[in-house]
This record gives sequence, C-alpha cells and structure tokens, in this order.
Amino acid sequence: MDKIELEALIDNQPARTSLDQAFYTDYDIYQRDIEAVYLKSWLYAGHLSEIPRTGDWFLFEMAGESVIIVRKDRDSVSALLNVCRHRGSIICSEKRGCSKKLVCRYHGWSYDLDGRLHSAAHMPDDFDKSGIRLGKIHAEILEGMIFINFAERPAAFEAVREDLRGCLRPYRIDQAKVAHRQTYFINANWKLSVENYTECYHCAPSHPEYTRGHALAKPGARASEQMKQVMARAPACGLSDRAVNRIYLDEPGFGAGYAFERYPMWRGHVTGSEDGKAVAPLMGEIRDYDGGTTDFQVGPVSFALAYCDYIVIYRFTPVSLHESECDITWLVNGDAEEGRDYDRERLTWLWDVTTQADKRIIENNAAGVRSRFYEPGPYSTMEEYTWKFMTWYLQTIRP
Ligand SMILES: [Fe+2]
Repeated sequence: MDKIELEALIDNQPARTSLDQAFYTDYDIYQRDIEAVYLKSWLYAGHLSEIPRTGDWFLFEMAGESVIIVRKDRDSVSALLNVCRHRGSIICSEKRGCSKKLVCRYHGWSYDLDGRLHSAAHMPDDFDKSGIRLGKIHAEILEGMIFINFAERPAAFEAVREDLRGCLRPYRIDQAKVAHRQTYFINANWKLSVENYTECYHCAPSHPEYTRGHALAKPGARASEQMKQVMARAPACGLSDRAVNRIYLDEPGFGAGYAFERYPMWRGHVTGSEDGKAVAPLMGEIRDYDGGTTDFQVGPVSFALAYCDYIVIYRFTPVSLHESECDITWLVNGDAEEGRDYDRERLTWLWDVTTQADKRIIENNAAGVRSRFYEPGPYSTMEEYTWKFMTWYLQTIRP
C-alpha cells in the first residue's frame, strides 16, 4: 500500500465506525503502526521493584525488538537495545537476570551497565573500543513505574509526571512490589486488543465476574449520583478527588497522553475480587475504601486499574501483524507478604478470568474481521473512548 492509498483510506473512514479491513490485515499499515505509534510513544516496561539490585535486568520485547531494562545504580536504570555491536547477535536471551556486565555469548563481547563496550578479545591492535556502545533509548520513572520510548527526541514526560503526581501519590506505587506478572498471547492485530480494552460495552455480555462489582459496565457510571458520593468520600480515605483526562490529544506531546479517572464499585464490592472483599492490605497512604476504583493511563497502550488494595497494569504490544500480547502486572504494597497478607490466587483471580475472556472475544473479533465478508459497523454510545483512540490513531499514522 502506498502513501496515497493510505491517505485515501484514512480520509474515507466514517466517524464512529469500525475501521476498514486493511487496517487489520495490510502488512504495510502494520509497519506504519510500529513506526508511527510504537517507536514514538511512551510504553510501560516494568516496575523498579523487579530490578532492586545493581545489575538486575529484564527484557522488554515487541514486534521483533528487544530492550534490556537494567538497574545501572541505586537511582537509575538504562534501557539498552539488545543487539550486540559486534555482528548483531541478541545479547540477553533469558527474560530476566542479574550480571555485573552484559556479555554476548556469541563471541564474548561484554558491556557495562550503561552499554559501553568493556572487553572484546582478539581484536586488531588499532581497534578502539571507546566509541562502541549499545544503542540506548529513553527511560523515565513515574512513581516506580518504568516507561521507555524508542524515539530519538520523544515527547516530554514532565507534564505526565507533574500532573499525575498528586493523584498517584496516595498509592505509593514507588514503594509497591510486583506480586505477579503474566503475559497473555492474543491471536489478533494489536489494535483489536487495545480497542477492546478501551470500551466497556462488552463488559455486561462477556464479563459477568467484572460486572458484578464494577459500575462502569453500565452506561453513565461516571456521571452517576453514586460517582458524586465516591468523589466526596475520596479525600477522607486519603485518595485524590481529581480527574485528569489528557489522553489521545496532541498535547502534551505525541504519544505522551495520560488520564486518571475514578468510577464507582457497587453491590458492596470494595475491590476487584471474586467476592468483592479486600485481597491485600491497603496501599501506601490510603486509609479506607471509598467505594470507587481508578482507571489511569500513560501513553496510548499502557493502562492501569488502581484499587485501594492492589493495582493492575496492562500493556498491549504487537508481536506480528495478526498477533499481540497483553502483559499484566499485579502490584501490592511493598511490605505485603505472600501467604500472610495476600493470596496470589485470590489477588489475580478477577483480572485473570477477565483477560482469558478478553483473549477469547478479541480472537473471535479478529477471525471475523479477517473474513472476506467483514464490513465496518457503527459504534455504540459506550464506545466513545474507542473512537477517541481511533481518531488519534488515524491522525498518527497519516503519512
Ligand atoms: Fe474485556
């Protein structure tokens, strides 16, 4: 597909209607997605507690790219491209590890934790290793959460940090720890995975477990009387009553949009769990359950749900044209101990069961979208946010 054809497709896309099939099946558009969305946006990579000691590292992988996220010293992390500067081999092949030097197994080249070449054997006498270092991409820390960006000059992260600091502070995510992390493989183009996350039209028919306790499954939850009560109660519980929505806009910068919004729980549920009861100790500085929960988002494809007792962070990444991954991190208070303060099964039950269902419905969606009989269809009033995402997406990939 050439530029003119892509422009025509974008121009002809009717508002509030699902996208033309080509956006899900055309390999050139997929490549454009990677370049325009994924290589320019801020992406959630992981949590600082996963790499507590100098030399601890884990991999961030998407669309055939691999980045080593390594703890460089007490205060900082490096995001290094996992491609050896010798002949290009992958350096780290495990998902995580700990080492003083990053050593390529192929010919033994080793790098320090900032990516500088440390040693390379049997090189000619005039070989100068001083200018050789692993590619490095941008990394920012937001309350203990590590975000990365492949762009040479990414959109500033300052506005995200400044604006979300007050809302996020009560949770003390910087002092939280990862209780569980799991990657779900989805046989669908990445956009179908993100589209599904951005709407709760499917919640009532597809997620009885979620719908039991979360008012967002019903239209108008954020404008309801119950919402006013939650917001009124929030400060006494130690929570912020601010709502922020700077998502899918050009400001504050490309791929750096963010949002923080609360909505009510119902039927006596205080958190996202099988019976609606707490599954972990209250997080950070939160003093009580306020009857609500929070959605927050940083960048176009990283989302989170913050309950008073735990947080789940979602990240969607492409694997190939028809494959994507949903990576979920469950965070609890830093001093909570498994077995004593929380049970991993109970903690992860709701979002595991919900994500298994999402995987199924997204894959069914993908199978239908690939049919020769697929035609774009109209969005409901509960898919406004999805259309917002799509509008941003179409603008973003415009050649
Ligand atoms: Fe869902």
